[in-house]
Parts: sequence; structure tokens; C-alpha cells
Amino acid sequence: MQRAVITSGPTVEPIDPVRYISNRSSGKSGFYLAMEAGKRNIQEIIFITGPTCYWPQGDKIKVFAVETALEMQEQLQRFGQGAEVIIMAAAVCDYRPLNVACQKIKRDAEHLTLELTKNPDLLLELGQQKPTGQILVGYAAETNDILDNARKKFLRKNLDLLVLNEISANNPAFNCEQNQVYLITAQNIKKLATMEKSILASHIWDEIFFLASQQHLP
Ligand code: CTP
Repeated sequence: MQRAVITSGPTVEPIDPVRYISNRSSGKSGFYLAMEAGKRNIQEIIFITGPTCYWPQGDKIKVFAVETALEMQEQLQRFGQGAEVIIMAAAVCDYRPLNVACQKIKRDAEHLTLELTKNPDLLLELGQQKPTGQILVGYAAETNDILDNARKKFLRKNLDLLVLNEISANNPAFNCEQNQVYLITAQNIKKLATMEKSILASHIWDEIFFLASQQHLP
């Protein structure tokens, strides 16, 4: 395989020069996916990450740091078309502040309303532009009707593999070492046991290579 693109971490969306909105993603899942990719027969791994402490290292791994969803979109446009595999493990903020203040907002007003505008759905865009043979992997976090919602997301975003997290008290998924997921493909749904994110990364790559073998990718 020539090139895999992995996105990871949260995006951060500025409010003013010192404040932002973001989410609780640590970037661990993407980190382990990149480290595992480094052990496989893949020539180049493009790792596009929002702010995180988890930076993968290896000869074949090229890291591109971004902050916002729009910056991540730019890097995906740069590297996405030429990739055999894209894994969207990043927790992209669905919304960003409509106006970014160029000076620090002062603590004068009693109430402050922040107006947000929708970020593009990067995974949806990738699914719409997907070149023949490319394997597109997305994540979903669902709390209810999980398989039904996931199946709809899989089809709507034109995915080849969906990694489904059931968010519950037993499986918080964010910011922890272990995770329990379902792997959803066009052919089947596999419920995996609770496992370390590092081991889960290897199961995900096994599934990707299986899909690639079905598509006769080199
Ligand atoms: N994603 C993306 N761009 C966004 C938001 C999410 O590319 N603006 C990608 C994430 O990288 C992840 C998947 O979409 O692979 C996660 O989608 P999720 O947040 O679970 O669902 P949504 O599609 O946002 O729908 P909803 O929140 O309504 O379930």
C-alpha cells in the first residue's frame, strides 16, 4: 500500500486570541492507528492531528499539525485523493464560533452569547469524492439505537468501515486506555471485546487489509 492518511485528536475552534472551544478527545486512538500502520506494508503514513500529547514516530510517518476543522479540511484536500486508505479518527468539532474576536474579549458583560456556525462534515465530503478503490474509515459515537444509527451513518457517508463506539457509563471511550467497539462493513457487523486501544488498532488494520485484499489493492 502506498499511502494511508489518518486524522487524529480534537480540533480547536478559536473564540478570541486566548480562548477556544474543543472536545475531550485525547488523540490516543489515532496515535495507535499510526504506530500500527508503521509496522505494516504501507510506504507513507500521513498523520493529520489536532492538538494532542500523542505524536507517533517512525520513518514512514509524516505529521501535520492543525488546529481547526477548516485546517484539517485543507490537509485532507492536499493528501486525500492520492491515499488508498483514509481513517477519520479525529473528533472534528461540529461547530465553530461564527466570529473570531481579534482582541481578547473583556469580562464586562453580565451575559455573553456565542454564535456558532456549522463546520463542514469532512468525512461526508471524503465519501462524496471517494476515488475507486479507496478505503474510507469513519468513527461513530452513539448512545441509543446504536446499530441502526451506525448503519445509516455508514451508508450516508459512503464508508467502507465504521468503528462504532457505544458511549455508556461502562464504555466512556474518550480519554481512556481501553475501548469496546463494533466494526461495521457492508458485509457484516463484528462486536469486539473490550481491549486496549493499541490492540484495537491492530484489529482495525487487519479489517482494512482484508477489505483491501477484496478490492485487489497491491
Ligand atoms: N467528522 C468529520 N467532520 C465533522 C464531524 C465529524 O469528518 N465535522 C467525522 C469524524 O472524524 C468521525 C465521524 O465523522 O469519523 C464521527 O461522526 P459523529 O460525530 O459520530 O457523527 P455525526 O456524523 O457528526 O452525526 P451525529 O453527531 O448527528 O451522530
